[in-house]
Amino acid sequence: MKKGKVYLVGAGPGDPGLMTVRGLELLRRAEVVVYDRLVNPVLLEEAPSAALRLFVGKGSGFHTLPQEQINGILIAQARLGSLVVRLKGGDPFIFGRGGEEAEALLAAGVPFEVVPGVSSAVAVPAYAGIPLTHRELSSSFAVITGHEACKAEPSVDWARLSTAVDTLVILMGLKNFPLIVGKLLAHGRSPATPVALIRWGTTEEQQTVVGTLADIIDKAAVLQPPVVVVVGEVVALRDRLHWFDELALAVKRVDPLNGSHPQIQP
Ligand SMILES: C[S@@+](CC[C@H](N)C(=O)[O-])C[C@H]1O[C@@H](n2cnc3c(N)ncnc32)[C@H](O)[C@@H]1O
Repeated sequence: MKKGKVYLVGAGPGDPGLMTVRGLELLRRAEVVVYDRLVNPVLLEEAPSAALRLFVGKGSGFHTLPQEQINGILIAQARLGSLVVRLKGGDPFIFGRGGEEAEALLAAGVPFEVVPGVSSAVAVPAYAGIPLTHRELSSSFAVITGHEACKAEPSVDWARLSTAVDTLVILMGLKNFPLIVGKLLAHGRSPATPVALIRWGTTEEQQTVVGTLADIIDKAAVLQPPVVVVVGEVVALRDRLHWFDELALAVKRVDPLNGSHPQIQP
């Protein structure tokens, strides 16, 4: 009997052109695709028409299949002999529970491979015109979950992180945003520190709100997830480097898999 395998594949941050060549190649051969909410639906059209497409939810406020159930689906489909693509937004090993899925596959004796993806943590700031490092402004960055900020004993050490790195990139931070801003200020970050929140980055929906730690809470109140938060002096570079906002909507809408990519338009 044919032996199945699971590929944990990063779909990239939203712009379908940011999926890797290897990921796309596997998607085009997939017999089963198990995907999350943040995966651009355009990518699903790349799978063979006969492929089984299984949506497993995920994302705050959305109905989510328990992780054990998702693991069970991956294991069962692979045991049927299928080529399974587990397609996840961004990179599968950055806040994507890809590590847990790999552990479950290992424990079940199911072969797997990991295909890294372009994480929203780096791509979304880039599309907003914010380099995470810069020779004069930032020598370090950290990617942090904002999801746990409200816990009595959060696993993120805000006291140390607040000033230990130049640029903070916070994923899943919108729900606890006022709390996070409070922690950063309480632990020594200047109220004048520039902050950006970018919603649906790298897509035609991309929306950016900019302020400082002193005034960003009210400005951010209009936003809904998914949002990447960037805190640090590099945010100020956006004033000059906001290249993606300058592209015409029609150019942003071009499907790079079937047409030309925005960046190679004259
Ligand atoms: C569960 S994490 C998954 C991260 C993913 N594995 C990655 O590497 O990008 C989901 C969070 O990623 C961020 N995110 C993912 N795609 C985004 C996008 N296109 N625009 C803004 N934020 C995004 C948001 O903070 C969202 O709450």
